[in-house]
Amino acid sequence: MFIRCIALVLALIASAVVADTTTVATVDSPGKVLTVSVTLDGDGRPGYAVSRSGTPVISESRLGFLLTDAPKLERNFKAADTATRSVDETWEQPWGERRYVRNHYNELKVTLVEKTSLARSLQVVFRVYDDGMGFRYEFPSQPRLSQVNIAEELTEFAVVDRATAWWIPAGEWNRYEYLYNRTPLSEVSQAHTPVTIKTDRGLHIAIHEAALVDYSSMWLRRVEGTRLKAALSPSSQGAKVRRTAPFTTPWRTMQIADTAGGLYMSDLILNLNEPNKLGDVSWFKPAKYVGIWWEMHLGTSTWASGPKHGATTANAKRYIDFAAKNGFRGVLIEGWNEGWDGDWFANGETFSFTRPYPDFDLAGVAAYAKRKGVRLIGHHETSANIAHYEQQLAAGLDLYAQLGIDTVKTGYVADAGGVKALGEDGKIHFEWHDGQVMSRHHLKVVTEAAQRHIAVVAHEPIKDTGLRRTYPNWVAREGARGMEYNAWGNPPNPPEHEANLVFTRMLSGPMDFTPGVLSLLGKDGQQIQSTIAKQLALYVVIYSPVQMAADLPSNYAKYPGPFQFIKDVPTDWADSRVLNGEVGDYATFARKDRNSDDWYIGSVSDENARTLDIRLDFLDPGRRYSAQIYRDGDGADWKSNPHAIAIENREVKRGDALQLKLAPGGGEAIRLHAL
Ligand code: NOJ
Ligand code: CA
Repeated sequence: MFIRCIALVLALIASAVVADTTTVATVDSPGKVLTVSVTLDGDGRPGYAVSRSGTPVISESRLGFLLTDAPKLERNFKAADTATRSVDETWEQPWGERRYVRNHYNELKVTLVEKTSLARSLQVVFRVYDDGMGFRYEFPSQPRLSQVNIAEELTEFAVVDRATAWWIPAGEWNRYEYLYNRTPLSEVSQAHTPVTIKTDRGLHIAIHEAALVDYSSMWLRRVEGTRLKAALSPSSQGAKVRRTAPFTTPWRTMQIADTAGGLYMSDLILNLNEPNKLGDVSWFKPAKYVGIWWEMHLGTSTWASGPKHGATTANAKRYIDFAAKNGFRGVLIEGWNEGWDGDWFANGETFSFTRPYPDFDLAGVAAYAKRKGVRLIGHHETSANIAHYEQQLAAGLDLYAQLGIDTVKTGYVADAGGVKALGEDGKIHFEWHDGQVMSRHHLKVVTEAAQRHIAVVAHEPIKDTGLRRTYPNWVAREGARGMEYNAWGNPPNPPEHEANLVFTRMLSGPMDFTPGVLSLLGKDGQQIQSTIAKQLALYVVIYSPVQMAADLPSNYAKYPGPFQFIKDVPTDWADSRVLNGEVGDYATFARKDRNSDDWYIGSVSDENARTLDIRLDFLDPGRRYSAQIYRDGDGADWKSNPHAIAIENREVKRGDALQLKLAPGGGEAIRLHAL
């Protein structure tokens, strides 16, 4: 009886809460696929919910903020105003996975005002697309909330259905270089975004953010069940974000699709970023590069000075000759500058960004490269000591500009939370790689570089949130386990790694993965868990406008057949399609060259062999193509027979069917050359 009474009381309370929740406004996507509704509960707490074709996807989820020095912004609100508008435009990328991007959405802007005497105002803007939605907070200029010190963001994502999630931990010692977990969504702890989710009904959702500018990165912490909540990356200053109104937060995003490929095909993240602020960026040339790099990861040479120093004048000239002979535009040289001796992981303050080691003639090497028609790629390893780096940034970039070096690879090797930054008090403070301080730092480097017509590839970066649209010289990042883990990683990348990456990390933007290690051997002979055909496929599957041919020139000499594909494959695309894929299992991409009528196909598998049927329905009608097929040879297997590859030619046309037979840990790469 007692229990029944309690149940009745609880039910009454629940119904009272439900009855009290009012819908302030709703907005549909242009094709009426997604609907977002904005609500206020009985306490004036704002929330939102998302449904797809009438089925709830995200149930009522909270919005708001905790502040460090003022009452929280999360209840007692009324909706003072709502406004809608629609946009349908197409814009052109200077480089990318596709040339033209359609930006088609309906927008709802809700102005919330506190009913209390503080009467502070907060706006939430929703942009709803057929393939996803984004929302952001806008803090208008107002007397009672001018300096905004955010302790935490209260944004929630309450996923309705039970689901599987692919995720890497956030707030741990490493930055983003983890193997992907595949767990029930209800077992996620705290994750970096993008988090990719597949509900038990088969719906795919990726939660991420767009336009992370002067703000702290959003991690996702599971609160209970399948409800996630924003947790901002910390700051040494207490408040995780410090801003002055007016300002806007990054967009909180959800790509929603029936298939894993549908997530990748969405341009939501780019569309939610501001248009290009740099104007003509035709000085950046998407290109492939080689470099003095893999040999250090193999341990056969060193970044540090001494008998094994990799960045010598003679070695650099060898790589330049190799690049010139094989048509690579770029030559990366790491370890050219002073500062690598001793414990460089810890001693970022010893780096000079202008002084070469004595056995490296920087000006002479740059002149030699120029004569040979190739460009050096500069390297700024900072060991995450940005206080030190920022002092030399201008001088380091000026030097590169003078020498005609138009791409710089930056690096921030240090454990998470180990960034050394100069505080307002003139002291060094420790920060996270993805906090507000680093979001500012990266944009400082990128804009300074842009002024000198230099492109930036950041390793150990802050995550990508589509800022390449606004700053197209921020061309790629690492920000996940790349090829280097196959040299010395314990464990190395497993065969499923790339099939995980393309539907998680790669949803955020280009990755400098550095593929193409045809020798398939890491340090001390550690076996790479891939076939040779898969190494080729990665150039199509893992997009970046700068792609390394990472192996040693002496190894490429052993594999002239497969090496031809690496020489042929472009790095800039007119169009991209996902032909098939399942997160962590396999993926097949087709991309059209931006500078010819050729198409390329790349397909990768996990540890399982599989047969995939594809149809060439994307090819131009009436056109014939020579298909140059690089497939796993009969009996290929990453473990026992990784170098078995068959290279075949046949003529194909639009509508033809192809069967891809992928080995365990295998792949396939195809060049479709228009005749
Ligand atoms: C880590 C980077 O990911 C790698 O590419 C680079 O060689 C080393 N740091 C040294 O800067
Ligand atoms: Ca790295």
